[in-house]
Amino acid sequence: MKSFPRRALAAFLLTALLAAHAAAGAAPIPRLLQKDGRHALLVDGKPFTVLGVQAHNSSNYPAALGKVWAAVKDAHANTLEIPVAWEQVEPVEGKFDFSFVDTLVAQARQHQVRLVLLWFGTWKNTGPQYTPEWVKFDNQRFPRMLDKEGKGIYCLSPFGAQTLQADTRAFTALMTHLKKIDSVQRTVIMVQVQNEVGTYGTVRDFGAKAEAAFRQPVPAAVLARKKSPIPGAASGSWAEVYGPYADEYFHAYAMASYIGTVAAAGRAVYDLPMFVNNALRDPLEPMAPWKNNFSSGGPTFDVIDIYKAAAPGIDFAAPDIYMPESGKVDATLAAFQRRDNALLVAEMGNAPAYARYVYQILGRGALGVAPFGIDYADYSNYPLGSRLKDKSMVEPFGKVYAAFRPMAQQWAQWSLDGRTVGFAEGDDRKPQSIETGNWKVSVKFREWQFGNVGKDDFPPGTEAPNGGAALARIGENEFIVVGQNVRLSFEHGAGKPSMYARVEEGHFDATGKWVMERNWNGDQTDWGLNLTSRPTVLKVRLGTYVH
Ligand code: DGJ
Repeated sequence: MKSFPRRALAAFLLTALLAAHAAAGAAPIPRLLQKDGRHALLVDGKPFTVLGVQAHNSSNYPAALGKVWAAVKDAHANTLEIPVAWEQVEPVEGKFDFSFVDTLVAQARQHQVRLVLLWFGTWKNTGPQYTPEWVKFDNQRFPRMLDKEGKGIYCLSPFGAQTLQADTRAFTALMTHLKKIDSVQRTVIMVQVQNEVGTYGTVRDFGAKAEAAFRQPVPAAVLARKKSPIPGAASGSWAEVYGPYADEYFHAYAMASYIGTVAAAGRAVYDLPMFVNNALRDPLEPMAPWKNNFSSGGPTFDVIDIYKAAAPGIDFAAPDIYMPESGKVDATLAAFQRRDNALLVAEMGNAPAYARYVYQILGRGALGVAPFGIDYADYSNYPLGSRLKDKSMVEPFGKVYAAFRPMAQQWAQWSLDGRTVGFAEGDDRKPQSIETGNWKVSVKFREWQFGNVGKDDFPPGTEAPNGGAALARIGENEFIVVGQNVRLSFEHGAGKPSMYARVEEGHFDATGKWVMERNWNGDQTDWGLNLTSRPTVLKVRLGTYVH
């Protein structure tokens, strides 16, 4: 048979398969799309913005879900990130219980919310506490890492062959179950494999298997992606190639290989997008070898290439942002958003100071964001997050999501097309500007609507930075603007005099049609576009003229 007919046959079979699926009413499986170095998550075949929240760590039981859904609703979120724990699905070895997953998926459908499942398996915040008891305490079968002195530590070894086998089997059982219950509706849109992996206190495993692997040549796939910091050291053992970084890089490779094996086995059954999340290293500290200052071996920004080489089944590494300083947020977003790594802020503090970052994150084209602990379980993770536990904790995020939600689908398409930009007020409170298309957009913060009169005369409610704005350039001279506590102005890039043609305040309806509520003019435009504490959506059209 020549190649053309064989291809034609393959195409025919694929079409027949898709048609059969469509006939069964199945939505297409969620997947990632890359275009010119930008990314989208396709849900039901269309770009999707994850306006997410993450539940608390012990809310993965039916009895806890009521308080989760109540917070999800107040947050106007379209996605819930929630754990599924190995200990709960396989309490007895080989006997699986997915009743929580069934309840969760059914309730998510009732609430019209999508799910991102967090597989708490071998590692959760580096420790083994979510493994079943038959794993936790059998360290003959499921060995712990050894430190440099040969002492066992808290963390399970990535070289435990039986641990890998058992985790892979449990994860595959989960994906098999998901395929069975969710192949039509696709309520679950992504899976995070393990949680904040790596090791605190020890740079890597020093057990016998790890030591033997450490002496092996660095695999070609790693060499191809991660260059040596030592001039001329292009190949050899980890120590030869990576010098003072060898221990951390080797540990990253070991962790990533393990996670990649688990993920690949799950995807072979049911091919959902999969990712890992990261407890950050300080993005502003000068790069230096690990010195007990972050979790070694986790997918920190400096080892993303090693994760890519070792774990092709993982689509991207996602930052968990618990550093509220605006400079660190900027640096983190820049480090994790790459042509080969879609940006999803998998977790973020739920203190009010973080809400303004939603504008910046969605403006720069992320798949989405999910503040952690948006859940009315009686628990606060202060100082990482908010001191509050009630509606007032959710409100700063809820009002931003409420503004984005009606246009979330369009937003994802605009950001895939490279049309969006975003601002978050910096800790320095200074003005900022960005060029987009023919226009320069400038923003200022802490101003009265007619400008400031006295040195210390600031509007109430602006004591701490909480301003932000995101814009989508939907035409040559036309923008969708959404923001709060910010004053915006536009200048034509080529210096042509310009003025507003229309500044419509409104919203998108369920069919994606713009609905104008009123047109701003006079005081509302003479001083720039002042968006106050209530997030507002504007459709702005500008024009240029000749003097
Ligand atoms: C980051 C972890 O990934 C979460 O599961 C949670 O433990 C938070 N830290 C702290 O509340």
